[in-house]
Amino acid sequence: MSWDKLIRADLAEMQPYAPGLRGSQVRERSGKDVISKLSSNEHPDGPFPRAIEAMRAILPHLNRYPDGASMALAEKLAARYSVPVGQIAVGSGSNELIRLIAEVTLRPGDEVVYAWPSFVVYPMVTNIFHGTCVPVPLAEGDVHDLDAMLAAVTEKTRIVFLCNPNNPTGTIYRRAEFERFLERLPEHVLLVLDEAYIEFVCDPEFPDGMRYFNGTRPIAVLRTFSKIYSLAGARVGYAIAPEPLVQAIAKVREPFNVNMIAQIGAYYSLDDDAEVARRRKENQEQKTYLYGCFDRLGISWVPSEANFVWIKTEKPVEVFEALLQEGIIVRGFGKTPALRVGIGTPDDTKRTIAAFEAVVAQLGSV
Ligand SMILES: Cc1ncc(COP(=O)(O)O)c(C=O)c1O
Repeated sequence: MSWDKLIRADLAEMQPYAPGLRGSQVRERSGKDVISKLSSNEHPDGPFPRAIEAMRAILPHLNRYPDGASMALAEKLAARYSVPVGQIAVGSGSNELIRLIAEVTLRPGDEVVYAWPSFVVYPMVTNIFHGTCVPVPLAEGDVHDLDAMLAAVTEKTRIVFLCNPNNPTGTIYRRAEFERFLERLPEHVLLVLDEAYIEFVCDPEFPDGMRYFNGTRPIAVLRTFSKIYSLAGARVGYAIAPEPLVQAIAKVREPFNVNMIAQIGAYYSLDDDAEVARRRKENQEQKTYLYGCFDRLGISWVPSEANFVWIKTEKPVEVFEALLQEGIIVRGFGKTPALRVGIGTPDDTKRTIAAFEAVVAQLGSV
């Protein structure tokens, strides 16, 4: 059997997505009972009570297939954003929608422009669908360089991904610079606004993608229930996009792409905006507290509008390992001289500070 002949040769160049370490793995390695998993930008609290109740109630009905069109959820989202239901696509996480958008748009050699570092799935899907990756380095301050991104757009550009707030840096671009960018972006390009962390944003100058969506311009806004809504394990996200794009996605997605538990959990999560606001406030408080402690320890950090903080370190591998020994799981990016530290509960924050104090004492500096 020649697997080389059977499997696409170009896959040899690709790497599978590397998820953050799981708590159970680190418990064994560190010998610590209490682990703070701050590596995947999840919310530390469980799903909203009403969502848990509804998801429990659906269990006896799992003998049936889910609604393939996720219609009840799509209708609720459409009403929330005042758009026709035909402009909503629901996916198994917004991750699936990123992939589906690439699948329905990319022809071999099409260029895909995105900032770097940013969400690793953009280059992954570009490669899967034979596109050409055009990463544009972040500017000073680890922010999107929208001018450089515009300059990278050519006749062959099919998609521009903008991640706001950006994962992994937590930085945002603001309204005025985005509007300048949007005015100059050619209409042949699909602009994908990935707003997975929008609910955590406090900066009033943040350009909410929905302000620029009019149903005809080639803009897709992506959001998720995985972050502030705590449904990462259920897998559900959505795109608000012009109808032709939503219809194309419907042709290539799996027939029942979003499971019943995820649909119902998301549906009932949307009723509790007060809890969203509470979580945003608590996240902001934890970040402010962390910033102060980082300053005290001489650790360089980047202001974040998300639920994680990008810290600078010349020893990312050593610091990552030393934090693991303290039971704190953060996210490293190979040799990139930085680490991404997720925001957890107030207890996680206390443990994180104590761990960084121990690491500074051990390594001299971070
Ligand atoms: C920027 C960004 N977009 C999309 C996603 C995908 O989230 P999900 O597929 O869980 O909705 C993530 C997850 O970490 C993310 O960071």
